[in-house]
Parts: sequence; structure tokens; C-alpha cells
Amino acid sequence: KRLLSLSRCAESSAPCTHPALLSLVARERKKRFGDCFIAPGRRRERRAKELKSRLGILLHKPELAHRIGAASKLQLGSRQRDSSREVLEWRESFDQLLKSKNGVTAFHTFLKTEFSEENLDFWLACEDFKKTRSKTKLASKANRIFEEFVQSEAPREVNIDHETREITRKNLSGATSACFNEAQAKTRTLMEKDSYPRFLKSASYQDMTKQAASRGTSKRLHT
Ligand SMILES: *[C@@H]1O[C@H](CO)[C@@H](O)[C@H](O)[C@H]1NC(C)=O
Repeated sequence: KRLLSLSRCAESSAPCTHPALLSLVARERKKRFGDCFIAPGRRRERRAKELKSRLGILLHKPELAHRIGAASKLQLGSRQRDSSREVLEWRESFDQLLKSKNGVTAFHTFLKTEFSEENLDFWLACEDFKKTRSKTKLASKANRIFEEFVQSEAPREVNIDHETREITRKNLSGATSACFNEAQAKTRTLMEKDSYPRFLKSASYQDMTKQAASRGTSKRLHT
């Protein structure tokens, strides 16, 4: 029976659903099809690539390219103005920084230099977690987040006290979307008190604000 389903799995392009057979099936597929076997996800990627290259040919038509170029230059002007304002808003409050996608990226890059990006990654994982609707997904995500960030000796353990960790552990059974609330809030406070002020003083953020400020002035001079 095992062999039969193995053979069915290997010939079908659908993802194999037998966890115990996954690696066997992969080996079998390789034996039968060599590197020619393309998993369904891969096939989608390839189709997207083809579409892109066809679009590329279209873009080589000169008048079309010209029109697209002009449009994107206009967009760039207003986008630059928006991004200058955004950069300057990040220093107003930690909340403003976290609300901005570019702000989160810049802060993440900074945290990496301090080797403490797991705090932000945990906070982001919790944000994603709270948006989860399906009950089963909620439970599996909760366990994954707990194992990666919360339990002691976790690979990317965040800095929270023993008591919060234990309550969070208990919260895992019958996980609700609020089950990391306190742990997430504590990590946020930690980042706000500790890393955020250093981020604002960092050379890279100082450079960004200088650039943003000068873009603001040069814009005003031109108008
Ligand atoms: C445990 O879950 C409840 C909601 O079910 C939540 O209010 C509480 O903050 C959670 N505890 C921790 C430590 O996050």
C-alpha cells in the first residue's frame, strides 16, 4: 500500500500529502524525471517569468517606453516628498515609526547592527498573528511563535520575564488572538525605551533626516 501511494505521489504534480513519504517521493521523482520535474509552485514562478519577459519586449517599443518613463518621473517627485515627510515623522513617536513600512525596515536594519532584531521580528509576528482568522491556524501559529521567540532557550529568545513567559505558555492551550498581548506589549516597551532612542541617534537615521530635510528645502526653493 505504501509503495502504491508512493508511486501515485511521484507521478502526480500535486503536492504529496503523506508526511512520512515526502522525502521518499522527492527521491523517486528525481530518479524518474531527473531535474525535469517541476513542482506546481515552481511552475507558477516560471509562468510569471515568461509574462515578465513578454512585457519587457513590449516596453522596448520606443513611444510606449517614453510614456511610461514620463509617468514614473512624476510619481518619483511626489513619492520623494512623501518619503521625506515620513522619515521626519519617525522621530515623533515610536508609534509613528512602527506604523510606517519603511520605518520598520529602517529600524530592523538598525537592530541587526545591535543583534537584537528578534524583538522586532517577534512584535511583527504577533501583529500578523492577531490578524489570523482561522482557529486551527491560530493554534499552529501560536506554537510556532512560542517555540521561536518565547520559550527559554528558544533560537531567537526575546527578553521577557519568567512570569510573562509562563502565563504565555498557559495561554497556548485554547489560543486566542490575544494570547501574546502582554509579551508583545513588554517587548514593544523594551524596544521603545532601549533601541528606539539609539536608532534616532544613529548615523544612518541622522543621514536620512538630513537628506529628507534638504529635499524639503530644495523643493520649497523651486516652487
Ligand atoms: C493571555 O491571554 C489573555 C487573553 O486570553 C490576555 O488578555 C493576556 O494578556 C495573555 N497573557 C499574556 C502574558 O500575554
